[in-house]
Amino acid sequence: MVASGTFGFGEEYEDFFDLNQLGAIITKGISLEPVIGNPPPRIFETEGGIINSIGLQNPGFKDFIEKKLPYCKKLKTHLIVNFFGTSQGEYVELAKRFDEILGISGLEMNISCPNIKRGGITFGSDPRIAYRLVAKVRKATKLTFIVKLSPNVTDIEVMAKSVEEAGADAVSLINTFRAMAVNIYSRKPELGNIIGGLSGPAIKPVALRMVWEVSRRVKIPVIGIGGIMKAEDAIEFILVGASAIQIGTANLVDPKSGINVVKGINKYLVQNRVNRVRELTGLFNP
Ligand SMILES: Cc1cc2nc3c(=O)[nH]c(=O)nc-3n(C[C@H](O)[C@H](O)[C@H](O)COP(=O)(O)O)c2cc1C
Repeated sequence: MVASGTFGFGEEYEDFFDLNQLGAIITKGISLEPVIGNPPPRIFETEGGIINSIGLQNPGFKDFIEKKLPYCKKLKTHLIVNFFGTSQGEYVELAKRFDEILGISGLEMNISCPNIKRGGITFGSDPRIAYRLVAKVRKATKLTFIVKLSPNVTDIEVMAKSVEEAGADAVSLINTFRAMAVNIYSRKPELGNIIGGLSGPAIKPVALRMVWEVSRRVKIPVIGIGGIMKAEDAIEFILVGASAIQIGTANLVDPKSGINVVKGINKYLVQNRVNRVRELTGLFNP
């Protein structure tokens, strides 16, 4: 799959390869109302990764349905809508609305957002708040429901467990790490928002460790994300327990990354006489 925020709504990438060869396209995060996002600069390249402070810019529910969804529906691949809110009510309302729309295969809920009613603490860093939110959203939708976990927590296993108990169908991890960079000449931040989220190869070893730990702890499928640039990276995640993977920053380096990873995994399966990716999941042998 291609990760939220790094593949737009698919259309931007159609000239590079046949998008139907992807397992799924995950949309940019959608909120009830449009979001303008943070002031520029919003992306800073660092060693082994990027820091972004896009600020969840998106067209909002109505424009997504009217202007973006018709294109996505024409594709044969699955469409998973990533969404977020700033209150529990907003999350639930969005889930209800998406539930009624044809052409959506599943929802991925981003809980790395500040809970405005709770003074800005993110939904994804307190297991009790996450449990309550997931349980409410679960009741609001019959769609496949993935909860995307933040790595900015003390114990990601506890977060995964409470999300599973609250009724999520799967967890995806990880989102970006809170990060920053300073220009030593101007002595100013490199990002307009000062703080952004670190992604790319720099985070891969940490993401891999988290996916391994979470996979051992929960029974629901785990989707691995974080610094996957090539098929070998993806296979590492699958071996430690991921049932599927997402490619994010790599899409910004080479728009064909998604299809290259698919081809590379297939080659590995043939070379190792494995019939299905499913058979590789969890084969890591420490
Ligand atoms: C420019 C950019 C925008 C992103 N936007 C979102 C978003 O809207 N919602 C979300 O859940 N994750 C978002 N992410 C996080 C990615 O989906 C992914 O979890 C993260 O980048 C780690 O994977 P990677 O190292 O392969 O990029 C964004 C990442 C980047 C780089």
